[in-house]
Amino acid sequence: MSRRPTSQPLSPASPLTTSPGHADRLPHASEGLALIKQAVRSQAGYALAAPEAKHKLNQNESPFDFPAPLKQEVMDQAAAQAWQRYPAFSPRDLQQAIATRYGWVPDGVVVGNGSNELIQATLAVSLEAGDVVVAPSPTFSLYRLMTGVLGGRYVPVSLEQNFRYDTDRLIEAARREQARVIVLNSPNNPTGSALAPGAVEQILAETDALVLCDEAYQDFGGTSALPQLAHSSRVIVLRTFSKAFGLAGLRFGFGLAHPAVAGEIAKGKLPYNVNLITLTAARVALRHAATLTARVDELIVVRERFLADLRRLPGLAVYPTAANFVLIRCVNLPARDVFQRLHQQYGILVRDVSGAPELAECLRISIGTAEDMDAVIHALGEIFSAPGRNRGA
Ligand SMILES: Cc1ncc(COP(=O)(O)O)c(C=O)c1O
Repeated sequence: MSRRPTSQPLSPASPLTTSPGHADRLPHASEGLALIKQAVRSQAGYALAAPEAKHKLNQNESPFDFPAPLKQEVMDQAAAQAWQRYPAFSPRDLQQAIATRYGWVPDGVVVGNGSNELIQATLAVSLEAGDVVVAPSPTFSLYRLMTGVLGGRYVPVSLEQNFRYDTDRLIEAARREQARVIVLNSPNNPTGSALAPGAVEQILAETDALVLCDEAYQDFGGTSALPQLAHSSRVIVLRTFSKAFGLAGLRFGFGLAHPAVAGEIAKGKLPYNVNLITLTAARVALRHAATLTARVDELIVVRERFLADLRRLPGLAVYPTAANFVLIRCVNLPARDVFQRLHQQYGILVRDVSGAPELAECLRISIGTAEDMDAVIHALGEIFSAPGRNRGA
């Protein structure tokens, strides 16, 4: 076979890029679909329409980009590595750096392509067909989706009034259903509610389940389950660099667990799934953690002022939050209309979560810059001061 000289650029006409041309008609889907598990077909996929907006407050991202000098550091270090080689599957230095920062042992650290990958891996290695996953409701939709895809049974347990965690109710459900896994997301997405101190300890003591503590938002508030790692091999803590560290675009998360359990979770991951650039960025982020966490402090100040401003507005209920987002309930206007007006008239994109039964008329608003939040207060002030204008908007 003749080979193209490496110095010559590939042209669009290269055989490598030629389309086979079979896309002009599609066969019936039914035969293929019949072979997809019913538990998967019955699920709504994870999807999000994300139109452009001046104030993007719909995905709980950091409003601050990763600092330019740190990006440069990442690019310089990544460029100095050999890209034709696979990255490390378990990068020892990074496991060590994470262990040092979070007070755990390096062998108990599993890195993932976002913490999403570790939610999937943990459920994949723990659930047998029909096993029960107990989780608060409402919560992050991926747990339900992954449980269904993996053949488990998802048992949602309602939060109590004001979306406060009800530890006893979770324990009662876990015992009744003989849960294999209890998912705890604290602070909880989309409500912002945090578990009370001692709750994870109590759940570990009163159930036999694996307790998966998703702490994607813990940098912004609430207590952490990290101290429980030293007391139980049934606890797994998941963290992400997507939120407080401003690295959502590079996809980096990690899990902390007993080394034996961490080793099993790693078996549920695809090999080499965290790429070389992401691993490099994670190292740089950890080296500059103080710079990045200073921005978290800034966001917490913005959040507290935003909460106070929101509570002064008529027409909405504001739920307590320990996260970098706030859940509001529109009292005398349809949330859908408020969502649309915010976007179309004010260039503010928030998350319309009002489709979920417990979240009727609710919107979730991420904490952005002080300027973003002032824009939201101004817009909501106008919208709720003339509610009649919104009908059918
Ligand atoms: C509760 C929760 N866990 C995990 C994730 C996933 O984060 P990552 O970007 O690390 O995959 C999210 C993302 O929004 C989240 O809300």
